[in-house]
Amino acid sequence: MNPIRLAIFASGSGSNAENIYHYFSGNDKVEIALILSDKSQAFVHQRAIKMGVVSKTLQAAVFKESDEVLSLLNEYRIDFIVLAGFLLLIPAKLVQAFPNKIVNIHPALLPKFGGKGMYGDRVHKAVVDAGEKQTGITIHYVNENYDEGQVVFQATCPVESTDTSEEVANKVHALEYKHFPKVIELILAKEFEAYSR
Ligand code: GRF
Repeated sequence: MNPIRLAIFASGSGSNAENIYHYFSGNDKVEIALILSDKSQAFVHQRAIKMGVVSKTLQAAVFKESDEVLSLLNEYRIDFIVLAGFLLLIPAKLVQAFPNKIVNIHPALLPKFGGKGMYGDRVHKAVVDAGEKQTGITIHYVNENYDEGQVVFQATCPVESTDTSEEVANKVHALEYKHFPKVIELILAKEFEAYSR
């Protein structure tokens, strides 16, 4: 069987992208074939060089308004897309071209603290400001709206009254590293019959 070819989209540091890469290295059924960012200076490109994975940049306007992204995904024969800290809305044409083949991780317990503008530290600040007793991660399929696709998995962690948003971010990142690759693997097994064989 040919490996399932993954693209990981990331706008920033890319620590999840690297963690996913390590999880699947040695698994001949999955290949991280492309890293895509909307920022040419994002640290994820440095990580890609280290991992030996091709990384590309498409500026926001190009990503949204042209068919470049579809061409790129076609060129690299991508089967499945993982959003790991990617900030742009996924255009409808991309959702339609990859039905049930795009997943995102959100660093809170959706439907709380989601939607446009809720990303990175803003999410954790909002959680602390709201006096939440717990937060966590949500892994979900992607549709045309921010953070609204079908939820696949959630995991929680406690928020202490003394926690700063940075401390919350660290707890959430630990959950992401622990669960995201495994949940991706479960989704691949569900979406690609050949994977589980
Ligand atoms: C993660 O917390 C992810 O959930 C969020 O953005 C962050 C990305 O971190 N959407 P990194 O780039 O993987 O280090």
